[in-house]
Amino acid sequence: MVTEKSAIFIIFGGSGDLAHRKLYPSLFRLYKSGILKDHFAVIGTARRPWSDDYFRETVITSLEDYFEDDKKIMEEFAKHFFYQSHDVNDSEHYIALKNLAAKLDDQFETGHNRVYYMAIAPRFFGTVAEHINSEGLKTDGYNRLVIEKPFGRDLDSACELNGNISKAFPEDDIYRIDHYLGKEMIQDIPHIRANNPVFEKALNNQYVSNVQVTLAESLGVEDRGGYYETAGVLRDMVQNHIMQIIGAVASDDPKATDAKIIHKDKTNLFNSLKVLTAEQVDTDFVRGQYDTDKLGDQKAYRQEDNVAEDSEIETFTAGRIEFESDRWSGVPFYVRSGKRMPAKSSRIDIVFNEKVADLGIKANTVVTLLIEPEDGNSILINGINYKESGQDFIKFPEEEEFDSAREAYESLIIDILSGNRVHFTLWDELRSTWKYIDSIRERWDSQTPDFPNYLSGTMGPDAAEMLLERDGNSWAWD
Ligand SMILES: NC(=O)c1ccc[n+]([C@@H]2O[C@H](COP(=O)([O-])OP(=O)(O)OC[C@H]3O[C@@H](n4cnc5c(N)ncnc54)[C@H](OP(=O)(O)O)[C@@H]3O)[C@@H](O)[C@H]2O)c1
Repeated sequence: MVTEKSAIFIIFGGSGDLAHRKLYPSLFRLYKSGILKDHFAVIGTARRPWSDDYFRETVITSLEDYFEDDKKIMEEFAKHFFYQSHDVNDSEHYIALKNLAAKLDDQFETGHNRVYYMAIAPRFFGTVAEHINSEGLKTDGYNRLVIEKPFGRDLDSACELNGNISKAFPEDDIYRIDHYLGKEMIQDIPHIRANNPVFEKALNNQYVSNVQVTLAESLGVEDRGGYYETAGVLRDMVQNHIMQIIGAVASDDPKATDAKIIHKDKTNLFNSLKVLTAEQVDTDFVRGQYDTDKLGDQKAYRQEDNVAEDSEIETFTAGRIEFESDRWSGVPFYVRSGKRMPAKSSRIDIVFNEKVADLGIKANTVVTLLIEPEDGNSILINGINYKESGQDFIKFPEEEEFDSAREAYESLIIDILSGNRVHFTLWDELRSTWKYIDSIRERWDSQTPDFPNYLSGTMGPDAAEMLLERDGNSWAWD
Protein backbone atom coordinates (compact mmCIF):
# COMPACT_ATOMS: atom_id res chain seq x y z
CA MET A 1 0.00 0.00 0.00
CA VAL A 2 1.26 3.46 -0.87
CA THR A 3 1.48 5.95 1.98
CA GLU A 4 1.28 9.56 0.93
CA LYS A 5 4.09 11.77 2.29
CA SER A 6 3.80 15.44 3.26
CA ALA A 7 6.60 17.97 2.98
CA ILE A 8 7.84 21.19 1.47
CA PHE A 9 11.02 20.80 -0.55
CA ILE A 10 13.20 23.89 -0.68
CA ILE A 11 15.63 23.29 -3.50
CA PHE A 12 18.70 25.55 -3.45
CA GLY A 13 19.91 25.59 -7.05
CA GLY A 14 16.36 24.96 -8.28
CA SER A 15 17.19 26.32 -11.73
CA GLY A 16 20.22 24.06 -12.17
CA ASP A 17 21.15 20.91 -14.03
CA LEU A 18 20.87 18.39 -11.20
CA ALA A 19 17.45 19.68 -10.18
CA HIS A 20 16.07 19.45 -13.72
CA ARG A 21 17.75 16.22 -14.79
CA LYS A 22 17.38 14.20 -11.60
CA LEU A 23 15.20 15.74 -8.91
CA TYR A 24 12.11 16.90 -10.81
CA PRO A 25 11.78 13.66 -12.82
CA SER A 26 12.14 11.67 -9.57
CA LEU A 27 9.55 13.80 -7.79
CA PHE A 28 7.25 13.26 -10.75
CA ARG A 29 7.63 9.48 -10.47
CA LEU A 30 6.70 9.76 -6.80
CA TYR A 31 3.70 11.86 -7.78
CA LYS A 32 2.55 9.27 -10.30
CA SER A 33 2.89 6.51 -7.71
CA GLY A 34 0.88 8.48 -5.12
CA ILE A 35 3.73 8.89 -2.61
CA LEU A 36 3.46 12.58 -3.33
CA LYS A 37 -0.08 13.67 -3.96
CA ASP A 38 -1.89 16.62 -2.40
CA HIS A 39 0.29 17.54 0.55
CA PHE A 40 3.56 18.67 -0.94
CA ALA A 41 5.11 21.75 -2.50
CA VAL A 42 8.45 22.51 -4.09
CA ILE A 43 10.16 25.88 -3.79
CA GLY A 44 12.92 26.33 -6.33
CA THR A 45 15.48 29.00 -5.47
CA ALA A 46 18.36 30.55 -7.41
CA ARG A 47 19.51 34.08 -8.23
CA ARG A 48 17.89 34.43 -11.64
CA PRO A 49 14.54 36.30 -11.49
CA TRP A 50 12.11 33.64 -12.71
CA SER A 51 8.35 33.73 -12.22
CA ASP A 52 6.39 30.75 -10.89
CA ASP A 53 4.95 30.22 -14.36
CA TYR A 54 8.32 30.23 -16.05
CA PHE A 55 9.75 27.87 -13.43
CA ARG A 56 6.83 25.48 -13.97
CA GLU A 57 7.45 25.55 -17.71
CA THR A 58 11.08 24.55 -17.15
CA VAL A 59 9.96 21.73 -14.86
CA ILE A 60 7.49 20.43 -17.46
CA THR A 61 10.14 20.66 -20.19
CA SER A 62 12.53 18.62 -18.06
CA LEU A 63 9.83 15.95 -17.61
CA GLU A 64 9.12 15.77 -21.32
CA ASP A 65 12.65 14.47 -21.85
CA TYR A 66 11.86 11.38 -19.77
CA PHE A 67 8.11 10.75 -19.82
CA GLU A 68 5.46 10.37 -22.45
CA ASP A 69 2.61 11.14 -20.10
CA ASP A 70 -0.30 13.31 -20.88
CA LYS A 71 0.79 16.93 -20.42
CA LYS A 72 -2.23 17.44 -18.14
CA ILE A 73 -0.72 15.29 -15.38
CA MET A 74 2.53 17.23 -15.68
CA GLU A 75 0.64 20.52 -15.38
CA GLU A 76 -1.21 19.29 -12.28
CA PHE A 77 2.14 18.25 -10.79
CA ALA A 78 3.73 21.59 -11.69
CA LYS A 79 1.02 23.47 -9.77
CA HIS A 80 2.90 22.36 -6.63
CA PHE A 81 6.03 24.26 -7.79
CA PHE A 82 6.92 27.82 -6.74
CA TYR A 83 9.95 29.96 -7.43
CA GLN A 84 11.71 32.34 -5.06
CA SER A 85 14.64 34.36 -6.33
CA HIS A 86 17.37 34.03 -3.74
CA ASP A 87 21.06 34.69 -3.25
CA VAL A 88 22.56 32.34 -0.71
CA ASN A 89 24.55 35.17 0.89
CA ASP A 90 21.60 37.50 1.47
CA SER A 91 19.96 37.04 4.89
CA GLU A 92 16.82 38.93 3.83
CA HIS A 93 16.18 36.37 1.12
CA TYR A 94 15.90 33.61 3.72
CA ILE A 95 13.10 35.53 5.44
CA ALA A 96 11.21 35.69 2.13
CA LEU A 97 11.77 31.96 1.75
CA LYS A 98 10.53 31.29 5.26
CA ASN A 99 7.35 33.29 4.67
CA LEU A 100 6.64 31.56 1.38
CA ALA A 101 7.17 28.14 2.96
CA ALA A 102 4.80 29.02 5.83
CA LYS A 103 2.13 30.12 3.33
CA LEU A 104 2.49 26.92 1.31
CA ASP A 105 2.40 24.88 4.49
CA ASP A 106 -1.11 26.24 5.13
CA GLN A 107 -2.17 25.87 1.50
CA PHE A 108 -0.98 22.26 1.06
CA GLU A 109 -1.20 21.13 4.70
CA THR A 110 2.33 19.74 4.69
CA GLY A 111 2.61 19.22 8.45
CA HIS A 112 5.46 21.79 8.80
CA ASN A 113 7.89 19.24 7.35
CA ARG A 114 10.85 20.61 5.43
CA VAL A 115 13.42 19.05 3.12
CA TYR A 116 16.25 21.51 2.38
CA TYR A 117 18.01 20.22 -0.72
CA MET A 118 21.46 21.55 -1.62
CA ALA A 119 21.58 21.33 -5.42
CA ILE A 120 24.17 24.11 -5.51
CA ALA A 121 27.95 24.39 -5.57
CA PRO A 122 29.58 22.78 -2.51
CA ARG A 123 31.17 26.09 -1.46
CA PHE A 124 27.65 27.27 -0.52
CA PHE A 125 26.62 24.25 1.60
CA GLY A 126 27.85 25.72 4.89
CA THR A 127 26.45 29.21 4.19
CA VAL A 128 23.00 27.89 3.39
CA ALA A 129 22.87 25.55 6.41
CA GLU A 130 23.92 28.36 8.75
CA HIS A 131 21.30 30.76 7.35
CA ILE A 132 18.51 28.19 7.57
CA ASN A 133 19.28 28.02 11.25
CA SER A 134 20.03 31.66 12.01
CA GLU A 135 17.08 33.05 10.04
CA GLY A 136 14.65 30.73 11.81
CA LEU A 137 13.50 28.63 8.85
CA LYS A 138 13.27 25.48 10.94
CA THR A 139 9.82 24.42 12.03
CA ASP A 140 8.26 22.12 14.60
CA GLY A 141 7.89 19.43 11.88
CA TYR A 142 10.96 17.61 10.64
CA ASN A 143 13.83 19.61 9.10
CA ARG A 144 16.09 17.45 6.92
CA LEU A 145 19.15 18.71 5.11
CA VAL A 146 20.14 16.93 1.91
CA ILE A 147 23.68 17.39 0.64
CA GLU A 148 25.04 16.46 -2.76
CA LYS A 149 28.56 15.37 -3.46
CA PRO A 150 31.36 16.32 -3.31
CA PHE A 151 31.63 16.46 0.47
CA GLY A 152 35.01 18.20 0.67
CA ARG A 153 38.09 17.62 -1.47
CA ASP A 154 40.27 16.18 1.28
CA LEU A 155 39.99 15.41 4.98
CA ASP A 156 40.66 19.00 6.10
CA SER A 157 38.06 20.60 3.85
CA ALA A 158 35.54 17.86 4.65
CA CYS A 159 36.09 18.50 8.39
CA GLU A 160 35.61 22.23 7.88
CA LEU A 161 32.43 21.71 5.86
CA ASN A 162 31.09 19.25 8.39
CA GLY A 163 31.87 21.67 11.21
CA ASN A 164 29.83 24.39 9.49
CA ILE A 165 26.89 22.16 8.74
CA SER A 166 26.77 20.47 12.10
CA LYS A 167 26.53 23.84 13.85
CA ALA A 168 23.16 24.20 12.14
CA PHE A 169 21.85 20.63 11.83
CA PRO A 170 22.27 17.58 14.07
CA GLU A 171 23.90 14.62 12.31
CA ASP A 172 20.61 12.68 12.44
CA ASP A 173 18.96 15.30 10.19
CA ILE A 174 21.74 15.32 7.57
CA TYR A 175 21.27 13.18 4.45
CA ARG A 176 24.50 13.03 2.42
CA ILE A 177 23.69 11.68 -1.01
CA ASP A 178 25.79 9.00 -2.63
CA HIS A 179 23.52 8.05 -5.49
CA TYR A 180 25.13 4.60 -5.81
CA LEU A 181 23.48 3.80 -2.48
CA GLY A 182 20.15 4.40 -4.20
CA LYS A 183 20.86 1.86 -6.93
CA GLU A 184 18.83 -1.29 -6.75
CA MET A 185 21.66 -3.82 -6.74
CA ILE A 186 23.48 -2.00 -3.95
CA GLN A 187 20.30 -1.95 -1.87
CA ASP A 188 19.75 -5.65 -2.59
CA ILE A 189 23.20 -6.79 -1.46
CA PRO A 190 22.33 -7.08 2.27
CA HIS A 191 19.21 -9.12 1.35
CA ILE A 192 21.21 -11.36 -0.97
CA ARG A 193 23.80 -11.96 1.75
CA ALA A 194 21.23 -12.47 4.50
CA ASN A 195 19.19 -14.94 2.43
CA ASN A 196 22.03 -17.06 1.04
CA PRO A 197 23.80 -18.61 4.05
CA VAL A 198 26.42 -20.52 2.04
CA PHE A 199 27.38 -17.43 0.05
CA GLU A 200 27.55 -15.40 3.25
CA LYS A 201 29.65 -18.07 4.93
CA ALA A 202 32.11 -17.85 2.04
CA LEU A 203 32.47 -14.06 2.21
CA ASN A 204 35.73 -13.82 4.13
CA ASN A 205 39.46 -14.32 3.86
CA GLN A 206 39.21 -18.10 4.12
CA TYR A 207 37.36 -18.46 0.83
CA VAL A 208 37.71 -15.19 -1.10
CA SER A 209 40.79 -14.78 -3.27
CA ASN A 210 40.03 -11.16 -4.15
CA VAL A 211 37.18 -8.70 -4.70
CA GLN A 212 37.04 -6.37 -7.70
CA VAL A 213 34.94 -3.23 -8.04
CA THR A 214 34.81 -1.57 -11.45
CA LEU A 215 32.96 1.65 -12.26
CA ALA A 216 33.73 2.22 -15.94
CA GLU A 217 32.37 4.99 -18.12
CA SER A 218 32.60 5.14 -21.88
CA LEU A 219 32.13 8.92 -22.04
CA GLY A 220 34.80 11.52 -21.39
CA VAL A 221 34.28 14.56 -19.17
CA GLU A 222 31.89 16.12 -21.72
CA ASP A 223 30.95 19.63 -20.51
CA ARG A 224 32.16 19.09 -16.93
CA GLY A 225 35.86 19.75 -17.54
CA GLY A 226 35.90 22.70 -15.12
CA TYR A 227 34.57 20.58 -12.28
CA TYR A 228 36.75 17.61 -13.17
CA GLU A 229 39.91 19.72 -13.03
CA THR A 230 39.20 20.26 -9.32
CA ALA A 231 38.40 16.63 -8.67
CA GLY A 232 39.87 13.71 -10.67
CA VAL A 233 38.57 10.18 -10.53
CA LEU A 234 40.12 9.32 -7.16
CA ARG A 235 38.03 11.98 -5.41
CA ASP A 236 35.07 11.76 -7.77
CA MET A 237 34.52 7.98 -7.69
CA VAL A 238 36.80 6.11 -5.27
CA GLN A 239 36.46 8.12 -2.06
CA ASN A 240 32.68 7.89 -2.15
CA HIS A 241 30.99 5.45 -4.55
CA ILE A 242 33.60 2.69 -4.64
CA MET A 243 34.13 2.78 -0.88
CA GLN A 244 30.38 2.65 -0.24
CA ILE A 245 30.00 -0.30 -2.62
CA ILE A 246 32.76 -2.13 -0.76
CA GLY A 247 30.89 -1.26 2.45
CA ALA A 248 27.80 -3.11 1.15
CA VAL A 249 29.76 -6.25 0.21
CA ALA A 250 32.24 -6.42 3.07
CA SER A 251 30.42 -5.17 6.17
CA ASP A 252 29.96 -7.62 9.01
CA ASP A 253 26.24 -7.86 9.67
CA PRO A 254 24.04 -7.98 6.54
CA LYS A 255 21.00 -8.89 8.65
CA ALA A 256 21.10 -5.56 10.47
CA THR A 257 18.15 -3.32 9.68
CA ASP A 258 18.80 -0.58 12.20
CA ALA A 259 20.53 2.38 10.50
CA LYS A 260 22.81 2.96 13.48
CA ILE A 261 24.09 -0.64 13.48
CA ILE A 262 24.55 -0.66 9.70
CA HIS A 263 26.56 2.55 9.81
CA LYS A 264 28.62 1.44 12.79
CA ASP A 265 29.49 -1.71 10.90
CA LYS A 266 30.55 0.27 7.84
CA THR A 267 32.52 2.74 9.94
CA ASN A 268 34.39 -0.15 11.58
CA LEU A 269 35.22 -1.51 8.14
CA PHE A 270 36.52 1.85 6.88
CA ASN A 271 38.48 2.36 10.10
CA SER A 272 40.27 -0.88 9.28
CA LEU A 273 41.49 0.42 5.88
CA LYS A 274 45.24 -0.12 5.66
CA VAL A 275 46.46 3.39 4.89
CA LEU A 276 49.26 3.33 2.31
CA THR A 277 52.78 4.64 2.76
CA ALA A 278 54.20 6.81 -0.05
CA GLU A 279 56.11 3.80 -1.43
CA GLN A 280 52.97 1.64 -1.33
CA VAL A 281 51.05 4.29 -3.28
CA ASP A 282 53.65 3.87 -6.05
CA THR A 283 53.17 0.11 -6.18
CA ASP A 284 49.46 -0.25 -5.28
CA PHE A 285 47.78 2.60 -7.14
CA VAL A 286 47.87 3.41 -10.85
CA ARG A 287 46.66 6.64 -12.41
CA GLY A 288 45.92 7.50 -16.00
CA GLN A 289 44.60 10.22 -18.26
CA TYR A 290 42.90 9.58 -21.58
CA ASP A 291 44.41 10.46 -24.89
CA THR A 292 42.60 10.50 -28.22
CA ASP A 293 41.45 7.09 -29.58
CA LYS A 294 43.24 4.74 -31.98
CA LEU A 295 42.03 6.70 -35.01
CA GLY A 296 42.72 10.09 -33.51
CA ASP A 297 38.99 10.95 -33.70
CA GLN A 298 38.31 11.69 -30.05
CA LYS A 299 39.48 14.64 -27.98
CA ALA A 300 42.19 13.85 -25.47
CA TYR A 301 41.37 15.00 -21.92
CA ARG A 302 43.81 17.90 -22.26
CA GLN A 303 41.88 19.12 -25.32
CA GLU A 304 38.52 19.23 -23.52
CA ASP A 305 36.86 22.58 -22.72
CA ASN A 306 37.99 24.18 -19.44
CA VAL A 307 40.85 21.71 -19.05
CA ALA A 308 44.47 22.87 -18.77
CA GLU A 309 46.75 21.91 -21.68
CA ASP A 310 49.17 20.37 -19.20
CA SER A 311 46.56 19.04 -16.78
CA GLU A 312 47.81 16.45 -14.28
CA ILE A 313 44.30 15.38 -13.31
CA GLU A 314 43.68 11.63 -13.54
CA THR A 315 40.68 10.29 -15.47
CA PHE A 316 41.48 6.67 -14.60
CA THR A 317 42.66 4.90 -11.51
CA ALA A 318 43.14 1.30 -10.43
CA GLY A 319 44.25 0.31 -6.99
CA ARG A 320 44.71 -2.43 -4.46
CA ILE A 321 42.98 -1.80 -1.16
CA GLU A 322 43.40 -3.89 1.98
CA PHE A 323 41.62 -4.05 5.32
CA GLU A 324 43.10 -5.05 8.63
CA SER A 325 40.20 -7.01 10.07
CA ASP A 326 39.59 -10.58 11.16
CA ARG A 327 37.27 -11.07 8.24
CA TRP A 328 39.21 -9.48 5.42
CA SER A 329 42.90 -9.15 6.16
CA GLY A 330 44.98 -10.63 3.35
CA VAL A 331 42.24 -10.21 0.71
CA PRO A 332 43.01 -7.59 -1.93
CA PHE A 333 40.10 -5.39 -2.99
CA TYR A 334 41.02 -4.23 -6.48
CA VAL A 335 39.20 -1.09 -7.52
CA ARG A 336 39.08 0.58 -10.89
CA SER A 337 37.28 3.53 -12.38
CA GLY A 338 37.85 5.51 -15.51
CA LYS A 339 36.45 7.62 -18.27
CA ARG A 340 36.57 6.68 -21.96
CA MET A 341 36.75 2.99 -21.22
CA PRO A 342 35.27 0.61 -23.82
CA ALA A 343 31.80 0.44 -22.22
CA LYS A 344 29.75 1.73 -19.31
CA SER A 345 29.77 -0.91 -16.64
CA SER A 346 29.47 -0.93 -12.86
CA ARG A 347 30.13 -4.30 -11.30
CA ILE A 348 31.45 -6.18 -8.33
CA ASP A 349 33.35 -9.42 -9.01
CA ILE A 350 33.94 -11.68 -6.05
CA VAL A 351 36.62 -14.22 -6.93
CA PHE A 352 36.63 -17.30 -4.69
CA ASN A 353 39.66 -19.50 -4.08
CA GLU A 354 39.98 -23.30 -4.28
CA LYS A 355 39.09 -23.88 -0.66
CA VAL A 356 35.55 -22.70 -1.29
CA ALA A 357 34.88 -26.22 -2.66
CA ASP A 358 34.66 -27.25 1.03
CA LEU A 359 31.39 -25.28 1.14
CA GLY A 360 30.03 -26.93 -2.01
CA ILE A 361 30.86 -23.97 -4.28
CA LYS A 362 33.00 -24.88 -7.33
CA ALA A 363 36.63 -23.92 -6.81
CA ASN A 364 37.61 -20.50 -8.22
CA THR A 365 34.02 -19.48 -8.89
CA VAL A 366 33.51 -15.81 -9.74
CA VAL A 367 30.27 -14.18 -8.59
CA THR A 368 29.46 -10.94 -10.39
CA LEU A 369 26.92 -8.47 -9.05
CA LEU A 370 25.98 -6.18 -11.93
CA ILE A 371 25.03 -2.68 -10.89
CA GLU A 372 24.88 -1.08 -14.34
CA PRO A 373 24.06 -0.84 -17.18
CA GLU A 374 21.38 -3.46 -16.30
CA ASP A 375 18.86 -1.63 -14.16
CA GLY A 376 17.74 -3.79 -11.33
CA ASN A 377 18.86 -7.25 -10.41
CA SER A 378 21.49 -9.28 -12.13
CA ILE A 379 23.91 -11.86 -10.77
CA LEU A 380 26.36 -13.83 -12.88
CA ILE A 381 28.24 -16.94 -11.85
CA ASN A 382 31.36 -17.45 -13.93
CA GLY A 383 29.96 -15.04 -16.49
CA ILE A 384 26.49 -16.58 -16.96
CA ASN A 385 23.15 -15.81 -15.34
CA TYR A 386 23.04 -17.45 -11.92
CA LYS A 387 19.87 -19.39 -12.82
CA GLU A 388 21.64 -21.16 -15.67
CA SER A 389 24.92 -21.66 -13.83
CA GLY A 390 24.17 -25.07 -12.30
CA GLN A 391 25.22 -23.72 -8.89
CA ASP A 392 22.54 -22.80 -6.42
CA PHE A 393 24.46 -21.25 -3.52
CA ILE A 394 23.25 -17.81 -4.50
CA LYS A 395 19.90 -16.50 -5.66
CA PHE A 396 17.77 -13.45 -5.21
CA PRO A 397 15.27 -13.53 -2.40
CA GLU A 398 11.99 -13.89 -4.29
CA GLU A 399 10.50 -10.59 -3.28
CA GLU A 400 13.59 -8.73 -4.56
CA GLU A 401 13.55 -10.34 -7.97
CA PHE A 402 10.17 -8.98 -8.87
CA ASP A 403 10.86 -5.55 -7.50
CA SER A 404 10.27 -2.91 -10.14
CA ALA A 405 13.50 -1.09 -10.86
CA ARG A 406 13.42 2.31 -9.18
CA GLU A 407 15.61 5.15 -10.27
CA ALA A 408 18.28 5.85 -7.61
CA TYR A 409 17.14 9.39 -6.79
CA GLU A 410 13.52 8.32 -6.51
CA SER A 411 14.44 5.68 -3.99
CA LEU A 412 16.64 8.09 -2.00
CA ILE A 413 13.92 10.76 -1.88
CA ILE A 414 11.49 8.18 -0.45
CA ASP A 415 14.09 7.42 2.23
CA ILE A 416 14.48 11.13 3.03
CA LEU A 417 10.71 11.53 3.35
CA SER A 418 10.57 8.44 5.56
CA GLY A 419 13.48 9.47 7.79
CA ASN A 420 15.45 6.37 6.77
CA ARG A 421 19.19 7.14 6.80
CA VAL A 422 20.42 3.65 5.89
CA HIS A 423 21.30 4.62 2.33
CA PHE A 424 23.14 7.84 3.11
CA THR A 425 26.75 8.49 4.06
CA LEU A 426 27.59 9.32 7.64
CA TRP A 427 30.34 11.64 8.74
CA ASP A 428 32.37 8.94 10.52
CA GLU A 429 32.53 6.93 7.28
CA LEU A 430 33.66 9.94 5.29
CA ARG A 431 36.38 10.80 7.76
CA SER A 432 38.01 7.38 7.37
CA THR A 433 37.70 7.22 3.61
CA TRP A 434 39.11 10.74 3.17
CA LYS A 435 42.07 9.86 5.36
CA TYR A 436 42.78 6.90 3.10
CA ILE A 437 42.36 8.88 -0.13
CA ASP A 438 44.52 11.75 1.15
CA SER A 439 47.51 9.43 1.49
CA ILE A 440 47.30 8.62 -2.23
CA ARG A 441 46.57 12.17 -3.32
CA GLU A 442 49.51 13.56 -1.33
CA ARG A 443 51.94 11.18 -2.99
CA TRP A 444 50.54 11.86 -6.44
CA ASP A 445 50.66 15.62 -5.92
CA SER A 446 54.37 15.36 -5.15
CA GLN A 447 55.15 13.70 -8.50
CA THR A 448 54.66 14.66 -12.14
CA PRO A 449 52.64 12.02 -14.01
CA ASP A 450 53.48 10.94 -17.52
CA PHE A 451 50.12 11.91 -19.04
CA PRO A 452 48.30 11.14 -21.28
CA ASN A 453 48.94 7.42 -20.90
CA TYR A 454 45.95 5.52 -22.28
CA LEU A 455 43.99 5.67 -25.50
CA SER A 456 40.28 6.44 -25.41
CA GLY A 457 38.26 3.25 -25.75
CA THR A 458 40.77 1.07 -23.90
CA MET A 459 40.97 -0.47 -20.43
CA GLY A 460 43.38 2.19 -19.11
CA PRO A 461 47.16 2.05 -18.78
CA ASP A 462 48.91 -1.35 -18.88
CA ALA A 463 49.98 -0.88 -15.27
CA ALA A 464 46.34 -1.53 -14.27
CA GLU A 465 46.65 -5.11 -15.60
CA MET A 466 50.07 -5.58 -14.01
CA LEU A 467 48.72 -4.57 -10.62
CA LEU A 468 46.77 -7.84 -10.52
CA GLU A 469 49.25 -9.98 -12.46
CA ARG A 470 51.79 -9.27 -9.76
CA ASP A 471 49.52 -11.12 -7.29
CA GLY A 472 48.78 -13.92 -9.79
CA ASN A 473 45.29 -12.49 -10.43
CA SER A 474 43.50 -10.86 -13.37
CA TRP A 475 40.49 -8.60 -13.89
CA ALA A 476 37.26 -10.53 -14.31
CA TRP A 477 35.94 -7.79 -16.61
CA ASP A 478 38.51 -7.32 -19.32
N1 LIG B 1 24.64 17.80 -12.32
C1 LIG B 1 24.87 16.59 -11.87
O1 LIG B 1 24.65 15.58 -12.55
C2 LIG B 1 25.41 16.39 -10.48
C3 LIG B 1 25.71 15.09 -10.06
C4 LIG B 1 26.16 14.88 -8.75
C5 LIG B 1 26.31 15.96 -7.90
N2 LIG B 1 26.04 17.21 -8.36
C6 LIG B 1 26.20 18.33 -7.40
O2 LIG B 1 24.97 19.04 -7.34
C7 LIG B 1 25.23 20.42 -7.14
C8 LIG B 1 24.58 21.22 -8.27
O3 LIG B 1 25.14 20.85 -9.51
P1 LIG B 1 24.52 21.30 -10.91
O4 LIG B 1 25.21 20.51 -11.94
O5 LIG B 1 23.03 21.28 -10.86
O6 LIG B 1 25.01 22.83 -11.00
P2 LIG B 1 24.39 24.00 -11.87
O7 LIG B 1 23.61 23.51 -13.03
O8 LIG B 1 25.52 24.94 -12.11
O9 LIG B 1 23.37 24.70 -10.88
C9 LIG B 1 23.79 25.54 -9.84
C10 LIG B 1 22.59 26.27 -9.27
O10 LIG B 1 23.01 27.13 -8.23
C11 LIG B 1 22.43 28.42 -8.42
N3 LIG B 1 23.31 29.41 -7.80
C12 LIG B 1 24.59 29.71 -8.17
N4 LIG B 1 25.09 30.69 -7.39
C13 LIG B 1 24.10 31.01 -6.51
C14 LIG B 1 23.99 31.92 -5.43
N5 LIG B 1 25.01 32.76 -5.08
N6 LIG B 1 22.83 31.99 -4.73
C15 LIG B 1 21.80 31.17 -5.05
N7 LIG B 1 21.84 30.26 -6.05
C16 LIG B 1 22.97 30.18 -6.76
C17 LIG B 1 22.32 28.55 -9.94
O11 LIG B 1 21.36 29.46 -10.37
P3 LIG B 1 21.67 31.03 -10.54
O12 LIG B 1 22.88 31.14 -11.38
O13 LIG B 1 20.43 31.60 -11.17
O14 LIG B 1 21.87 31.57 -9.18
C18 LIG B 1 21.86 27.12 -10.28
O15 LIG B 1 20.48 26.98 -10.04
C19 LIG B 1 26.74 20.55 -7.06
O16 LIG B 1 27.12 20.45 -5.72
C20 LIG B 1 27.25 19.34 -7.82
O17 LIG B 1 28.53 18.96 -7.40
C21 LIG B 1 25.59 17.46 -9.62
